[in-house]
Amino acid sequence: MSDALRVENLKKTFQKRGAPPVAAVDGLSFAVPTGHIFGLLGPNGAGKTTTLKILTTLIRPTSGTAEVAGVDVARDPLSVRRKIVVVVQESAAEIFLSVRDNLLTFGRFHGLKGDALRARADDVMEKFGLVQDGSRKAMDLSGGFRRRIQVAKALLVDTPVMFLDEFSTGMDPILKRSVMALLRAEARKGRTIVLTTQILSEAESLCDDILIINHGREVARGDVETIKALSATHNATLEDVFVELMQQAPETPQ
Ligand SMILES: Nc1ncnc2c1ncn2[C@@H]1O[C@H](COP(=O)(O)OP(=O)(O)O)[C@@H](O)[C@H]1O
Ligand SMILES: [Mg+2]
Repeated sequence: MSDALRVENLKKTFQKRGAPPVAAVDGLSFAVPTGHIFGLLGPNGAGKTTTLKILTTLIRPTSGTAEVAGVDVARDPLSVRRKIVVVVQESAAEIFLSVRDNLLTFGRFHGLKGDALRARADDVMEKFGLVQDGSRKAMDLSGGFRRRIQVAKALLVDTPVMFLDEFSTGMDPILKRSVMALLRAEARKGRTIVLTTQILSEAESLCDDILIINHGREVARGDVETIKALSATHNATLEDVFVELMQQAPETPQ
């Protein structure tokens, strides 16, 4: 099977006037096979969001290359955008629109229309438990609920690659479980899912493939079992290993 992501020596340095440069992404290389659920993990400030922003063409890399579904992000960002759907941390639902209109507007933007769009929106609202509140404005709903609308949008379209930056923020455990089951079903259909999360138990049960980074560099790479085996202790959880790895990691000056 082909790779959905191919990243080669990727770097992004932020240069602010009067401040030393920040190497947010500092030489990452990795590939993700099509249909995998890939977890990009790391502590706050590790470079997760910056990496996602490069892969989704929101910012350009300083150097190195990244391909999404076979397309280079710097050379052909418009083609990349047609192949992806993105739920980023700061993305807010359209607060003045109802839940249903949020989905319909998003679907139209992605080329769906008419009965097919309405049927698709109904199906997604059903799956995400949004039917009852379909006509309520997003602004009248809780943060977790608005997050639910955002993730629902990713299932409204059939783009080959899906990016989710901390998708579960504000979701209760029951909803989170059902969303995780929905994501697994999407991956089984052949969609590639790239996600970041601070909740390692979530990554442990969801991801086929994990990359842990710190200071913009690779710390560990592999499936859950491979990464757990890096721990000194028996029966370690992914969170145990994560904490161990971060304590071992040498402090690099930023
Ligand atoms: N636009 C920016 N300008 C300057 N520094 C930035 C910018 N965006 C991110 N950074 C810095 O890059 C590093 C990585 O940030 P980020 O990718 O948001 O990390 P994460 O998502 O893993 O928490 C941090 O040190 C952050 O302060
Ligand atoms: Mg982030």
